[in-house]
Amino acid sequence: MDDSFFHSQVRTVWWEEEADGRAQIALLDQSLLPQQVVIMHLQHEQQVADAIASLKVRGAPAIGVTAAFGVALAAARLLAERQAGQRELTQSELSEHVYEVGQLLCRTRPTAVNLFWATERMQRCMQRAARRSMPVQQLVDLLQEEAQAIAAEDVQACWQMGMYGAELIADGDTLLTHCNAGALAATGIGTALAPIYVAARSGKNLHVLVDETRPVLQGARLTAWELQQEGIPLTLITDNMAGHFMRQGNIRSIFVGADRIAANGDVANKIGTYSLAVLAHAHQIPLYVVAPCSTIDLSLPSGDQIPIEQRKPEEVTTLYGTPIAPAGVAVANPAFDVTPHPYISAIITEKGIVRPPYRENLRELDTEL
Ligand code: MRU
Repeated sequence: MDDSFFHSQVRTVWWEEEADGRAQIALLDQSLLPQQVVIMHLQHEQQVADAIASLKVRGAPAIGVTAAFGVALAAARLLAERQAGQRELTQSELSEHVYEVGQLLCRTRPTAVNLFWATERMQRCMQRAARRSMPVQQLVDLLQEEAQAIAAEDVQACWQMGMYGAELIADGDTLLTHCNAGALAATGIGTALAPIYVAARSGKNLHVLVDETRPVLQGARLTAWELQQEGIPLTLITDNMAGHFMRQGNIRSIFVGADRIAANGDVANKIGTYSLAVLAHAHQIPLYVVAPCSTIDLSLPSGDQIPIEQRKPEEVTTLYGTPIAPAGVAVANPAFDVTPHPYISAIITEKGIVRPPYRENLRELDTEL
């Protein structure tokens, strides 16, 4: 199997070094898709934080990888800055900087736990290395290697989720997905779309119904584009059509991603997932959540404790800058909702398919850092 099997046509985020050795992060600006395909180059941690907050990069695993690269970039940048000014950088200064950058990145978006997981992993890498008291250049290199490892593990995890999830898909199935949990949301072939890619690449004929996913339209702008790039047949529908197609008996199963999974199996995912899950339950259609172990947060007993990001009203009151609602109208804009675990048929991770009882079975996965 060649390496391209693990990847998709699209790349979200990667580490680059310029000819002068300066590090930067290359990032596909998802806020411009599908009209424009623009790669941004980030040289400062504040740009990384802004890119996450403004959804230029989004999707739980991609946010985690970007944050890890952001920490590594900040360390490399500070060292380069000191070297250029011929000033020394001490290990404790670097350590403090890495901590502060972690805090900066963690303030961008509250729901996807991968962000916190990745920055925590970078902090631990720093602390482990600092105990061995090594030259700061070596510490900076180690942080970069750790971020690269997080990205590489994500590629592998996506593929493994795809392999497990593909077993649940039969030739001829029509599947439904919500938001974008594909290659654009990760560094590999995605989470919820990974089983679809693996099943399609193994010769199964599939059709995907794609929810447009208001208000930010990740389904219409990103999933539809990504599936087109991969040559997977799809039909775009508005969110309120899902029940109609379920009732007609057209949908075999539903695949969604997750931003955070609590210890009891409750899942936070893009707003609208809960409504889909209730509808799916009423129509006896299985709903599968596909997510890597880095999305599981065993510290939270249930979904009630998952912080839900509230985004700005303009996402609801405008479309591409054009107002669609009366000025001054009151707006609610929770970016995620929580689907209680009884509505979830299975959680597909890179370590296997987890079924109820989730509290016991998720714990067995061993998701410690
Ligand atoms: O607001 P977004 O676009 O970051 O929301 C993304 C989702 O809700 C995805 O379904 C989730 O992160 C899983 S991505 C593999």
